[in-house]
Order: sequence, then structure tokens, then C-alpha cells
Amino acid sequence: MILVTGGAGFIGANFVLDWLAQGDEPVVNLDKLTYAGNRENLAAREGDTRHVFVQGDIGDTALVSQLLAQHRPRAVLNFAAESHVDRSIHGPGDFIQTNVVGTFRLLEAVRTYWDALPAGEREAFRFLHVSTDEVYGSLAPTDPAFTETHRYEPNSPYSASKAASDHLVRAWHHTYGLPVLTTNCSNNYGPFHFPEKLIPLMIVNALAGKPLPVYGDGMQVRDWLYVKDHCSAIRRVLAAGRLGETYNVGGWNEKPNIEIVKTVCALLDALRPRADGQSYATQITYVKDRPGHDRRYAIDARKIERELGWKPAETFESGIRKTVQWYLDHPEWVQRVQSGAYREWVQKQYAGGAAAA
Ligand code: NAD
Ligand code: DAU
Repeated sequence: MILVTGGAGFIGANFVLDWLAQGDEPVVNLDKLTYAGNRENLAAREGDTRHVFVQGDIGDTALVSQLLAQHRPRAVLNFAAESHVDRSIHGPGDFIQTNVVGTFRLLEAVRTYWDALPAGEREAFRFLHVSTDEVYGSLAPTDPAFTETHRYEPNSPYSASKAASDHLVRAWHHTYGLPVLTTNCSNNYGPFHFPEKLIPLMIVNALAGKPLPVYGDGMQVRDWLYVKDHCSAIRRVLAAGRLGETYNVGGWNEKPNIEIVKTVCALLDALRPRADGQSYATQITYVKDRPGHDRRYAIDARKIERELGWKPAETFESGIRKTVQWYLDHPEWVQRVQSGAYREWVQKQYAGGAAAA
């Protein structure tokens, strides 16, 4: 079996659902259930004995060691993290605690377990660390896309904490021989995306008749990848990635934020027209920029294609349509994640700007 951390969050839950749909290998899912973790994301696997859910912290060495000894996984995949850049600006402490200290403690528990495995199992074992393109910093408009050898230049507390975790993973390979793999992926979107992030926030606010808060001039560029494609890349790296290597994962799909927001509005106009016949785009409101906002990310994903034969299956057009439709089909999910804590966050983040909630 495999052990997944953070498997109740956006990408982790999509990964666990896809994994169980595509094979028989069981999953132990260790998740702290922070505000971003949601057991409802895994409801489709309720009662499936191949899915063992454990609420807990990757930094809890006793718990992680006990899970490793009990389930003897052949791989550990680390999705668990604090993941929202804006939250890291308001409060970086949790990011250091989970992304840096938590990853360190997880690595140590895994190293102890791996050291004691019989030779064959030791050789086959993998630790896969899920990371981000944000560790590379920001690109100028004409710079080439990030390759795996691009210098680390993180600019936010979030990206600095992820960069630190990547360095720890690398060091545990070089120093202790731990068989690690790291993926650095661009912006994901799709089902179960928490509505603090750009695309789901825009869908949810649009439908609620609220402002659509675009930071600064809206011309910041991100590369967008449908979450199921990220999951297939991770499966591919786990199966065939070279030990100690890092693999960039991206959608070859760079777009400025304002274009993303207008695309979401156009899809909603078609799928759920406003009662007054106006476009949702009339709700767009430019607000104060994010401090230290990275201007452009772009991923050169040729290495994973060349070495492992991975390419995204979804185009942006097909992926964004599925995503908008998913949110239209799951109003009760949206309603339930908009708890008191969510409302407090939106109030804190957008107060004085677009008054988004
Ligand atoms: P998310 O915030 O939706 O989910 C994170 C999950 O981790 C939650 O279920 C949360 O409860 C859990 N968690 C947090 N702290 C924990 C701890 N100490 N112990 C155990 N569980 C804990 O994040 P996501 O968007 O699904 O991102 C998953 C991973 O992918 C992260 O490592 C992130 O850095 C990386 N990543 C995300 C994107 C993206 O676009 N969302 C892109 C590239 C890489
Ligand atoms: O690049 C990968 C990263 O993508 C992941 O590592 C992070 O975990 C993930 O959150 C994401 O980071 P971003 O900061 O790029 O994502 P976010 O959805 O927060 O913002 C996307 C862009 O949209 C960014 O330029 C900021 C802008 N934005 C965001 C919000 C929430 C707005 O203009 N308005 C908003 O209200």
C-alpha cells in the first residue's frame, strides 16, 4: 500500500480518488483536517476498505512511525502543506511549522522506517514530495519558462517554506540515500478546489452576486493545469521517476489572471445566465495588489515528457468547462465549506478592497 499525506485537501483528495479508481492498491491517508482538509471530498470512498483515513499531523513522529510500522507502505507521498499564498502573508508561522518542520519530521520518521526495511523493500521504496513552481520565483515577460535547473528564488512566505522543504528532501537523498522524488507543479484547478483560490473564488462569488476581486492590474501570468493531469503526472513519477530527480509539471497554458476571470464569467453566462441578462463580468472589481506579488510563472515540462512520456490530457478549454460545471453541480459542497472560519478569512483578506463577502 501507499501512504498519502494531505489526502483530504484539493489535490490530495483528487489523487486518492483517482488512485483507488485505477487500481486495487490500498491507501493510508494521513491528514490533519485543517480548514483546507475536508472528509467530504472523499465521500465517494466511504466504506471502501482500501482507504484508511487517519486524522493527524505529519509532524507527529509517534503517529507517523506507528502508521508506517502498522501498514508498511511501499511509498509515502507528501501532499500535506499550508498552501495559500495570501494566508502565508497574514500568518507565516503555520507555513513554517507544517511545510518546513512537518516535512523534516516526516522525513526523519520515514528514514527510520526505510533504514529497517529488508533489502528488496528498501530498494523499491519511494518518498515523493509534491512541490510547486513558486520556488523558482518570478519571470519577466520574455524569460524562458522554468526548467528543473532554474535557481530557487522564492518570494512569499509560502514559497520560501516550500523551497525549504524541497531542500530538506534533496538533502535526505544526498546524505542518507533516502529514495526521493520531487515534483514542482504549476497552478492546479478542478473539483474540490477550496474557494479561497482564484478560480473557485470567482465562480462562487459570481453566483452569489458578489464582487470578483482582481489583484492589481490582473495581468499576472500563471500556468494552469487540470488537477487530474497533475495526479497522473505524480503517478507516472512514482512509477518511473529517477531517484533524487525533480520533475516540473505544467499545462503549457500561460494566461493572465484577468483572462481567466473573464473566461469563468463567459462560461457562467452560458451555463447559468444572470436573471437580469447582464454578464457576470460586470462584477469584476480591481482591488489592492498582493504584497510581493509574483508577476509570471511558466513551466517547461519537457523533462517529464521526454523521460517519462507524460503530457496533460486536458486542454484549458475542456478543463475549465468541467470545473465550472462541477461547481454548478455541487452547491451543497460550496455551502458547507463556507463555514464561519471561511467567512472570517474572506472578511480579513478583502476588507477595504472589493468587500468580497
Ligand atoms: P490544500 O490546502 O487544498 O490541502 C492541504 C491538505 O493538507 C489539507 O487537507 C490539510 O488538512 C492538510 N494538512 C495541512 N497541514 C497538515 C499537517 N501538518 N499534517 C497533515 N495534514 C496537513 O492544498 P492543495 O492545493 O491540495 O496542495 C497540495 C500540495 O500540492 C501542497 O504541498 C502544495 O504546496 C502543492 N501544490 C499545490 C498547487 C495548487 O495549485 N494548488 C500547485 C503545485 C503544488
Ligand atoms: O503555482 C502553484 C501555486 O499556485 C501553488 O503552489 C499554490 O499552493 C496555489 O495556491 C497557487 O498559488 P497562486 O498564488 O498562484 O494561486 P491563487 O489562486 O491564490 O492566485 C492565482 C492568481 O490570482 C495570483 O496571481 C493572485 C490572483 N488573485 C488571487 C485571488 C485569491 C486575484 O487576483 N484575486 C484573488 O482574490
